[in-house]
Amino acid sequence: MKNIFFVVVLLGVFVITACSAGASVPSTPTPDPLVLQGQQVFNARCATCHALVPDTIIIGPSLAGVATRAETRVEGQTAEEYLQLSVLRPGDYVVEGFNNIMITNLAKELTNEDMNALMAFLLSLK
Ligand code: HEC
Repeated sequence: MKNIFFVVVLLGVFVITACSAGASVPSTPTPDPLVLQGQQVFNARCATCHALVPDTIIIGPSLAGVATRAETRVEGQTAEEYLQLSVLRPGDYVVEGFNNIMITNLAKELTNEDMNALMAFLLSLK
């Protein structure tokens, strides 16, 4: 009789631990390390002029949702191409209502790795 009681208790413990283990699995995926690195580059180089909060102008336009907007900015350019050119040659496409004052030497100061990380970060701003 005692043994059966133990088995029931043990089974109960199993069920409870199995459930709580399932519940502790994070619901959001772990951030991509490249995106995190890109965010650091952004904070250091771009955040002086660009906010990530919608409709907030610092000197340049807010980059909230820029990955989605980038797809339709220039015909024939993918979002990635547009974002790359926005950093390499900001004068090619000037956002309406803004002056072409974005500095052009930013990209030259970035390592290839930082540039790739920055692009991964910008492309995550859907
Ligand atoms: C001196 C201020 C300044 C800095 C620093 C700056 N930008 Fe800009 N940026 C602007 C201005 C002003 C515009 C709008 C005019 C234009 O399109 O060039 C702009 C436009 C953009 C656009 C186009 C947005 C759109 O909606 O199409 C992107 C993307 C962008 N910047 C990314 C960056 C990134 C990434 C950095 C950092 C490497 C950066 N900018 C640094 C001022 C700045």
